[in-house]
Amino acid sequence: MTEEEVKKRIEELREEIRRHDYLYYVLAQPEISDYEYDMLLRELKELEEKYPQFITPDSPTQRVGGQPTKEFPPFKHEIPMLSLDNAYSYEELDEFHSRVVKLLGYEPEYIVEPKIDGVAVALIYRDGIFYKGATRGDGHTGDEITQNLKTIKSIPLKLFYSPEDKEFLNIEVRGEVYMSKKIFQELNRKREEEGLTTFANPRNACAGTLKLQDPAEVARRKLDIFIHTVPKKISDRYDSDYDVMLKLRDLGFKIIEGMKLCKSMEEVKEYCALWEKKKESVDFPMDGMVIKVNRFSEREKLGATLKSPRWAIAYKYPPEQAITKLIDITVNVGRTGVLTPTAILEPVFISGTKVSRATLHNMDEIRRKDVKIGDYVVVEKAGEIIPQVVRVVKERRTGKEKDFQMPERCPVCGGKVVKLPEEVAYRCINRNCPAQLKRAIIHFASRDAMDIEGLGESLTEQLVDKGLVKWLPDIYYLTVDKLASLERMGEKSASNIIESVEKSKKRPFYRLLYGIGIRYVGIKASELLAEHFQSMDRLMRASIEELQSVEGIGEVMARSIYEFFRDPENVKMIEEFKKIGLNMQVEKVEGPLKGKTFVFTGSLERFTRKEAAELVKSLGGSVASSVSKKVDFVVVGESPGSKYEKALKLGIKLLNEKEFIELLKKYGAL
Ligand code: IVH
Repeated sequence: MTEEEVKKRIEELREEIRRHDYLYYVLAQPEISDYEYDMLLRELKELEEKYPQFITPDSPTQRVGGQPTKEFPPFKHEIPMLSLDNAYSYEELDEFHSRVVKLLGYEPEYIVEPKIDGVAVALIYRDGIFYKGATRGDGHTGDEITQNLKTIKSIPLKLFYSPEDKEFLNIEVRGEVYMSKKIFQELNRKREEEGLTTFANPRNACAGTLKLQDPAEVARRKLDIFIHTVPKKISDRYDSDYDVMLKLRDLGFKIIEGMKLCKSMEEVKEYCALWEKKKESVDFPMDGMVIKVNRFSEREKLGATLKSPRWAIAYKYPPEQAITKLIDITVNVGRTGVLTPTAILEPVFISGTKVSRATLHNMDEIRRKDVKIGDYVVVEKAGEIIPQVVRVVKERRTGKEKDFQMPERCPVCGGKVVKLPEEVAYRCINRNCPAQLKRAIIHFASRDAMDIEGLGESLTEQLVDKGLVKWLPDIYYLTVDKLASLERMGEKSASNIIESVEKSKKRPFYRLLYGIGIRYVGIKASELLAEHFQSMDRLMRASIEELQSVEGIGEVMARSIYEFFRDPENVKMIEEFKKIGLNMQVEKVEGPLKGKTFVFTGSLERFTRKEAAELVKSLGGSVASSVSKKVDFVVVGESPGSKYEKALKLGIKLLNEKEFIELLKKYGAL
């Protein structure tokens, strides 16, 4: 390719990736599979690596860029970021409405939408490119956190504009960054397991994340955003904020879900009531509704006080709390041995669900809140998910309440419990503690790891409790006889399980690497490590520096991997796996397609891209993401992309799906 052609291709790829980001992150209507998306991104990355002169800050590859910062520069808001007055009842909403009607002389239209419980930010665009972003701060000056904001995939780095949109190219928009309830739960679960302090709610987790100085870590936390306002009127063509919001969506922004135009206060109230029920079922945290006068001309007439505009109000739902008695505190043991205290409560209803347990996180938390067994406590659903003990109702103490103490011995195995000075958590340090072993087995057998069908939670329980599996390698010494002795286990299912255990021996090396459960090492990191080191032996010998030199492996992970292989117990386990015959290296498949490279374009009817690629690899062939002279076959599916034309130009052999299937059949892969 000439440089001109490269540049053109890079731009093409960026456009395409931007469109798919928008479809996926903003509209939630993806058109391609994750695999196809990864292939586009990979092609772009490869081209930008070879031709760094073409990298621009708005490229989709530049979302996680920049070095960790020491401090965020101050950012002065051109127009202050105000907050909102609150209404806690329909009466207070009526009062707000009367004030508005009095000042305007008539009833306006209102925009009504969820109030997102996150962190307010301002985003500035220059010439249609994301230029800077900042937090609210004190309303006048915030922190400039552009690098962190760029990691949020629903923030467009470049707007989709056409010539008639010129007023929109240099805009400021404001919105709320938030952490979804699902990500919040997952993050807290991981932190609990690692013995770190947990976040009280999604808003704190979000604020804590935006304060991080390392954009790569921010990216991992998968924050999201909803855009809710523009601080000033953008164009004479638009007096309605509602229309501006729809326009912003077309330009690439993710606007608030559930935005509605209401013609009367009655309609406003009905809509608030509807969301009070609905808010449980959505994945974003919300704590009320925002009601805003729709027209900019009316907003101008209404003006603002020093703190908040007169044209908007927040309607807050009553907090979801209840008071109940804490009967006991039990302790659970997690995968890494962390002991987590849980409050056992006298059952109580909070917004429609019965609550009989609440997390107490850790001992520090119990001390800080001064929780005793027998106390009456205020319980709240944090982020509407896991109930938490907010505080103790000290007035109701009788003197009979008892202090809680962390057990000195693990409640599961009786092993020693220790508290490391740098952690808040207490841990059971017996690595063969059944509680830890059970989790380790479930992880080892899970789909992304060794994919052992049938080896799920209930079987694992029995295997460990009966002493049939005392460490991971024991899985491979199970027999039909041993299994058939277990409850609810027929001979047929026993032999099915043994068969899937047997099959799992052939899993590729990276899946074993993921399965052995090195702390912080996920499936993606396992793939990277396998690709770089090629074998377990080389990986085990690697120094921390060498590990860290692999792209995508950070310091924490490198250290964890290094430590893992310095533990004699782990080395023993790996030796045993070797004996059993698991894959200790990246397999070089010898096969009829050895040395042949395939590229896929368009969609195939019978397989996903990933499946097709695995079939080619199983015959010894390899798969590339872009067409070059080195490619031997291009498999052309439905609505092929530019790769098809390029293959034609270079005269590369083309296969349609039928021919591809025939080839696979001929060599016995199907
Ligand atoms: S409109 C002048 N709409 O709540 C501010 N704000 O407590 C007009 N917020 O500072 C803001 N969801 O950061 C608006 N749908 C929504 C919102 C929303 C959350 C935040 C916003 C504001 C704060 C006020």
